[in-house]
Amino acid sequence: MAIAPNPPIPHITLVLAMSLDGKIADAQRGAARFSSAADLAHLEEKVAAADGVLFGGGTLRAYGTTLSVRDPDLLAQRRQRQQTNQPMQIVWSPSGNLDPKLRYFQQPIPRGLVTTAAGAHRWAETGQFEHIWPVPAAKTQPWDWPWILAQLKAAGIHRLALLGGGRLTAELLSRHCVHEVFMTVCPLILGGATAPTPVDGAGFLVAVAPRLQLLSHRAVAGEVFLHYRVKGMSAGETDFPEPSDRSIAEGILVLEGQNSKT
Ligand SMILES: NC(=O)c1ccc[n+]([C@@H]2O[C@H](COP(=O)([O-])OP(=O)(O)OC[C@H]3O[C@@H](n4cnc5c(N)ncnc54)[C@H](OP(=O)(O)O)[C@@H]3O)[C@@H](O)[C@H]2O)c1
Repeated sequence: MAIAPNPPIPHITLVLAMSLDGKIADAQRGAARFSSAADLAHLEEKVAAADGVLFGGGTLRAYGTTLSVRDPDLLAQRRQRQQTNQPMQIVWSPSGNLDPKLRYFQQPIPRGLVTTAAGAHRWAETGQFEHIWPVPAAKTQPWDWPWILAQLKAAGIHRLALLGGGRLTAELLSRHCVHEVFMTVCPLILGGATAPTPVDGAGFLVAVAPRLQLLSHRAVAGEVFLHYRVKGMSAGETDFPEPSDRSIAEGILVLEGQNSKT
């Protein structure tokens, strides 16, 4: 049976890159700059498809910046779809304790903040965020993501790209708020018990773990691009067509940049 958060939420696409051993950064929890240019282009495509992008404060502190859409074709496609030039780049930071000198605050993008009342108070008069969503204390223990995401949808965000990190993805997955997953597996091993993983938090017991259906896979120059649907989630907004994605039913695997039938 489909699990549909009520009220309706945006269609949520998780996009991550991880090492072969399942880490999204090294044990220093810095920026994860280990994937290829092809993976960055893939990420930009997913960002360009979205009305909003959501990431955690830990991720913003690690990078200092966020990925905006620069590719002229992707910008033209956004105009054709009558989307704004850039998706809103939304950070989840309960404390709101973010350094205003981060390059993120100079980027020519609309910015959003999901935070507590105290966090909202820090930024209220600064004009740095186009939209601040203060979450009432009663909805932060635990964070009421279906309610929060419904506020984003009411603000016109129908498609949301979720870019991590591990704490934020655990929050949304545990509340049945992720529809699909794009995971790039990169050919390196990071190890480290404290290195972040795609989904941190308390974890799921096997009996209740989210289950996924593989939609497509392709290998390009040592990286493997995987696309999964989260089972039990109602489809939500329909996907934009993705010509670069090949259906697993076609049995096509792209190996080292060359197409070959499996
Ligand atoms: N490979 C990839 O695709 C990818 C993608 C994204 C991120 N990453 C990596 O993931 C790492 C960041 O992930 P993350 O899971 O640490 O952070 P995160 O999910 O980006 O953000 C975590 C948020 O959780 C809040 N929080 C709540 N309880 C917390 C606690 N006990 N400790 C710390 N924060 C808590 C923090 O709020 P406050 O703001 O109030 O402190 C913080 O903003 C970075 O190393 C980044 O490079 C990799």
